[in-house]
Amino acid sequence: METIQSQVDELITQMTPAEKAGQLTQYFYFRLPAGAEPALDFDAEEQPRMVESALREGVAGSLLFVTDPAEINRLQRLAVDGNRLGIPVLFGFDVIHGLRTILPVPIAMAASWDPQTIERGQSVAAREARAVGIHWTFAPMVDIARDPRWGRIIEGAGEDPYLGAAVAVAQVRGFQGGELGAPESIIAGPKHFAGYGGALGGRDYDEVNLSDSELWNVYFPPFKAAVEAGAGNVMTAYMDLNGIPAAGSRWLFTEVLRDTWGFKGFVVSDANVVRSLVTHGFAADLIDAAARAVNAGVDMEMAVADPAYAHLPEALESGVASEQAVDASVRRVLEAKVRMGLFEAPYIDEDLAREVLADPAHREVARVAAQRSAVLLRNEGGLLPLDGGGLRSIAVIGPLADSKRDILGPWVFDYDLDETVSVVEGIRARAGEGVRVDHARGVPVVQRVFPSLFDMFGRNKPEDPEGFEQEAEFQQAVDLARGADVVVVVVGEWQNMIGEAASRSSLELPGRQRELLQAVVGTGTPVVLLVMNGRPLDLRWPAEHVPAILDIWYPGTQGGAAAADLLFGDVSPGGKLPFTWPRTVGQVPMVYAHTRSHEPENQERRYWDEDSTPLFPFGYGLSYGRFEYANLTVEQPVITTGGTVTVSVEVTNTGDREADEVVQLYLHQRFGSASRPVRELKGFRRVTLAAGESRVVELPVGPNERRYWNAAVRDWVIDSSIFDVWVGGDSTAQLSTRFEVTKE
Ligand code: NOJ
Repeated sequence: METIQSQVDELITQMTPAEKAGQLTQYFYFRLPAGAEPALDFDAEEQPRMVESALREGVAGSLLFVTDPAEINRLQRLAVDGNRLGIPVLFGFDVIHGLRTILPVPIAMAASWDPQTIERGQSVAAREARAVGIHWTFAPMVDIARDPRWGRIIEGAGEDPYLGAAVAVAQVRGFQGGELGAPESIIAGPKHFAGYGGALGGRDYDEVNLSDSELWNVYFPPFKAAVEAGAGNVMTAYMDLNGIPAAGSRWLFTEVLRDTWGFKGFVVSDANVVRSLVTHGFAADLIDAAARAVNAGVDMEMAVADPAYAHLPEALESGVASEQAVDASVRRVLEAKVRMGLFEAPYIDEDLAREVLADPAHREVARVAAQRSAVLLRNEGGLLPLDGGGLRSIAVIGPLADSKRDILGPWVFDYDLDETVSVVEGIRARAGEGVRVDHARGVPVVQRVFPSLFDMFGRNKPEDPEGFEQEAEFQQAVDLARGADVVVVVVGEWQNMIGEAASRSSLELPGRQRELLQAVVGTGTPVVLLVMNGRPLDLRWPAEHVPAILDIWYPGTQGGAAAADLLFGDVSPGGKLPFTWPRTVGQVPMVYAHTRSHEPENQERRYWDEDSTPLFPFGYGLSYGRFEYANLTVEQPVITTGGTVTVSVEVTNTGDREADEVVQLYLHQRFGSASRPVRELKGFRRVTLAAGESRVVELPVGPNERRYWNAAVRDWVIDSSIFDVWVGGDSTAQLSTRFEVTKE
């Protein structure tokens, strides 16, 4: 530690203000595919030239969006050989759910409720990223999302702070390994601090207004957990939080993050966000913007061009930016570079990179992750698993069923389509020679009314095959369904309809997909519905009329293979929903952890035109087993406020197949110094039980599980009260007990 500090201090004393500002500047380095139209406001020819000269002059500290190992080496050389002090560049990238090997999207990984699977997945992502020369990922996104209109719900762990914190920790561990700088690992950057998921109306980038109680109890916990797990970086949010642009909030980045939680890493702004302190009507000009951000504790600015931090020398000169703040920021950035071993080994071995990317073990991790994240939403009459032996023909229907690009989901750029397995391919491979597997698209691709920011990267804009004839295709799909033994229909959103800048005003299946599904169900052939999504969709009709529904999300490189494993029962689905699934967009936002209020007996009838219950509750998911819960006990029925109780329950798989269950514990405080939610998740464990097997699962409930931030006293409290405990397979679990907490 001391040597790191002295190495860094030594450099800082030699640096000019412009070089310091440069270390605090991160540039996008875009090479767009030929003919692509840049969706952002920048000159695609000029931008790379500008960045290269900044590297040579020592006024760029970090780059993002370069993933080619040879390019990384070339650019690194420009910096190391070019700048006076030989300071290497930190390469960052959005390694959100894999680099070459694409894992299921983050909301899917969260649906596994399995920290081990999540950690393993992100360690594969880290290994691939590090091999190509990336040091740092802008992940995990740990924003709580309670409004599925917001497209970025797909990047997080859903609505719940307890699950969100567990998933955040697993991801940080996966990315970073044992400690910052460990081999084959990268820096994790939890984002977007803070409150981004609360965007008004679910409209991406729009303002967020959250009470202190929601911030401390709901939106902050995953960040705090990620910081405690050692995350080396944090990214700011884009929007105004309670009237202050996040990137100009000293309260967030200095008081909460560093002073309260002890964060030791560096903070990066989201793209162009320091500049936009002016756009927001907060800073007077770019000098003011730079000063406010750096004084707030935002160490590095991420920019496409014309960074505000280029004005830091002027801001220092005039005294609006604090020299101490700037030096502290430079120190943090250089420390990260030293820890990542950049000064000793700035370049990477390109042959090794190729080898790592090709590692078949990575594909296996992705396949298992996809199996474990699927959620079985309905299985009437035990239609699933399919009876492999008794089938002669399977019709696979829908435009997403054979789309290799869509099965990967958004936020991926370096995938390999040749090794990606579509649903049709997965089923064909698993069904084997004797079974006929046919595919029909049925309906055309649906285009966004406003194009996606990501279309400019090529291969991202969905297209119909040439000569696509709508009516003929529809009819062909229905005919195929009629003649098959079983139909697998794949519906959902195309990958560019979800993610950043992909908010929606509706949750309907886009285009004619529902109509197609209805026509297929009308043939009388048994239908299994696979849903490809990153947000809950309006499945009211299928939830009544389609016997089997399996949510496979965007399952990644091995998605089609994993879907087939699940359909044929090689493994049982065992994932659970990480959000409350509403019936219709009009119910949004809808969370299970609401407080009890006036006329709770009418809670399910708050609207006169539709139930106010969800279509599927938080934590819900079926399997090929059947689980019964019994003997729920609390070992210590009375404790004092600092005490811990152990809750135990006996879980039995009464079904006839091995399967997984996620045992979930929910807590409710009956009275106290504030009213608390009707239920809150406070413990869970995913277990595998053989047919007929019973297991006792123990879950501790300690002071941390009962502590909450209280708006009346504006502080943390642990009340003495009576606590109800429910344990079961989802948030509507009925088996309950209670314990009492008395004063110390
Ligand atoms: C903007 C997004 O909000 C952020 O999550 C991402 O990491 C950066 N762009 C860089 O791509």
